[in-house]
Amino acid sequence: MTSFRENQTSRHPFKLRRSVLTVPAINRRALDKVAALDCDAVIFDLEDSVAPEKKAEARANLLDFLANTDLDHRECIIRVNPADSAFFQDDMDAVFACRPEALLLPKVEDPDAVQSVADLIGESGAAESLRVWAMIETPRGVVNAAAIAASGRTAGSRLDAFVVGLNDLRKATGVPATPGRTYLVPWLMQAVLAARAYGLDVIDSVSNDFNDREAFASECHQGRAMGFDGKMLIHPAQIDAANAAFGPSMTEIDEARLVVSAFARPDNAGLNVINLDGRMVERLHLDEAECLLAKLKVIQDRKVNPT
Ligand code: COA
Ligand code: MG
Repeated sequence: MTSFRENQTSRHPFKLRRSVLTVPAINRRALDKVAALDCDAVIFDLEDSVAPEKKAEARANLLDFLANTDLDHRECIIRVNPADSAFFQDDMDAVFACRPEALLLPKVEDPDAVQSVADLIGESGAAESLRVWAMIETPRGVVNAAAIAASGRTAGSRLDAFVVGLNDLRKATGVPATPGRTYLVPWLMQAVLAARAYGLDVIDSVSNDFNDREAFASECHQGRAMGFDGKMLIHPAQIDAANAAFGPSMTEIDEARLVVSAFARPDNAGLNVINLDGRMVERLHLDEAECLLAKLKVIQDRKVNPT
């Protein structure tokens, strides 16, 4: 059985990325909470949530925290400052010392930005497994999303995922935050399509209001319906809603099991298309069903072995 990512022509193994929590590296109390939270990934932020005069302290926090904490299944990502900032080189040194699974590059606007960082990583002798995630959060980033995603296919590229950032995009375009994200949806979909075209994962933007649980759950479902793999989160109170929306629903699980068992019947062997209770089902639906059940298994295995 192939994984979801392999089906999408990606070279990388499937990763569960429903809930991607960001934590300011300057905030020790928040850092100390993450290893007990049910999120799939953590972005340790050195960029916008850390004041310029606190960058060194934040890097030191992070080094100390990661050296002494087992994040277990939680994927570890460090968001660095932009490559043209005064903080970048020290941030990269922190990345090499902390050895996360990925670094997140803010405000990516063209393929060269990703390639330069990949070159830097290559020259440093860092592990081949260290990936680059790119924030798509400026007008130029959205316009060039396809070219940026395509650069993930060039030799030596480490590009693995897009994260859309609506706070910066709203600031740059003047489009306000409205329920349903009406005028932002075309740009979100552009990022999703570009990522999918080249086998990248794509994570939906943060939602700033962590008190309005209903609005947040509805935005998670919208993100899932748009094709995102998960959502970037700013607060622990957002984790459950993201896990629920981006994980398989009971209806999807039942349907997937039905499709798998239908194709397993001897009378359907060798058929590419079958009649399942009055609906056409093809082998491509079998691939989808198997991927969904594989995702479910990862979630269930974690519950059996909680940390
Ligand atoms: N990760 C882990 N723990 C967090 C957290 C996070 N992102 N956000 C809040 N918490 C913790 C707090 O430390 C607090 O615990 P404490 O009382 O023991 O310190 C608890 O959850 C409840 O927090 P709450 O009082 O509701 O919020 P707050 O005022 O402490 O923090 C924010 C609110 C928005 C400042 C905070 O959630 C935050 O910094 N989020 C991330 C922001 C960020 O990374 N932005 C950049 C990318 S967009
Ligand atoms: Mg930003």
